[in-house]
Amino acid sequence: KGTVRVGILGLGTVGGGVFKTLHSNRETIRKRTGYEVEVTSILVRDLEKERQFDIDARLLTLYPEDVLNAEYDVLIEVMGGLEPARTVITEALRTGRHVITANKELMAKHGAELLAVAEQSGAHLLFEASVAGGIPVIRMLQGYLTANRVKGISGILNGTCNYILTEMGSTGREYADILEDAKALGYAEADPTSDVEGFDAAYKLAILTNLAYEAEVDLAQIERVGITSLQAADLELAERLGYSIKLIGNARETDDGLQLSVRPRLLPKAHPLANINDVFNAVTIQADVVGELTFSGRGAGEFPTASAVIEDLTALLCGESSIRRPSWKRRISGDAGAKKAQG
Ligand code: NAP
Ligand code: HSE
Repeated sequence: KGTVRVGILGLGTVGGGVFKTLHSNRETIRKRTGYEVEVTSILVRDLEKERQFDIDARLLTLYPEDVLNAEYDVLIEVMGGLEPARTVITEALRTGRHVITANKELMAKHGAELLAVAEQSGAHLLFEASVAGGIPVIRMLQGYLTANRVKGISGILNGTCNYILTEMGSTGREYADILEDAKALGYAEADPTSDVEGFDAAYKLAILTNLAYEAEVDLAQIERVGITSLQAADLELAERLGYSIKLIGNARETDDGLQLSVRPRLLPKAHPLANINDVFNAVTIQADVVGELTFSGRGAGEFPTASAVIEDLTALLCGESSIRRPSWKRRISGDAGAKKAQG
């Protein structure tokens, strides 16, 4: 069918995985979609940085305008942070380019605004990689569960925390030490406070809730407790008593509206989320017709996340007309608002 030109913002853990996969799976992508994918420009912060793979240095730039001025059909944002990501994405969408992002903070804080820009210009903004790494949970909520009404969502939404809790429980090492491993493995955010204090999981819970309830959650509505006050002894004791401690994001419909929380919870070993270990995430969706669905898989890291980004790209290439536009138009202020949005 031709060539699709891609600009990329960021070439770190996720961007590197995307770049490598576009190369290693080029033939599969071409056969399945009919398109050759050509990377035209990549934004980085440091041109001198040693990259662990071959890359033509002429593709790299320090200036967002270079990416926007290069020929491109799709922009992939895997740099993180609010700015300049928000401005560059807005500009790409405004000019009718499709955008794919892994940026949960940006989507949780400005997703409604960006989706509105996309809708206006006819472009798509896709964000599968922003929640639960390689698990296709966004597509499940956005593209599949259209006839069902979601009654609740619950999940392990942060790979770094789950990795830390798993290691603390099985080895007795303390969290700060294990956090260093999670950083080295590429699981943690640039500022890992976001992981261990529960902000990252709250962003993801907000995105899932927005999709499920066609609303826009105010992050202040989410009760949030991280894992920093847990000690290895807590995890070991829980294990001995037949429980696991997991950082759980939960959205539950009650008579008073939606209750949203991210906090460590004690789960009996028979609970579907109790044995999700290491960097794995899992999401359980309760819906009125289908009942309960649980998805699990690697929730962070180079290739699981790159997989989600590239599956968004191939979804665009396979036929954008089948992609349903999320509607996050209503600002919910308080639980009563959430109830109204659902109703
Ligand atoms: P990372 O390893 O720190 O990579 C960030 C990349 O963006 C680097 O290449 C960096 O350039 C570039 N960059 C950052 N700020 C920049 C700026 N102001 N100007 C120019 N370039 C800039 O981060 P990551 O782990 O790949 O995460 C990227 C995004 O994906 C984040 O939104 C994160 O939340 C999300 N995400 C990550 C994972 C994961 O497992 N890591 C999973 C899902 C989603 P240099 O290379 O020159 O430093
Ligand atoms: N820091 C995030 C996590 C990356 O550990 O889950 C995946 O979103």
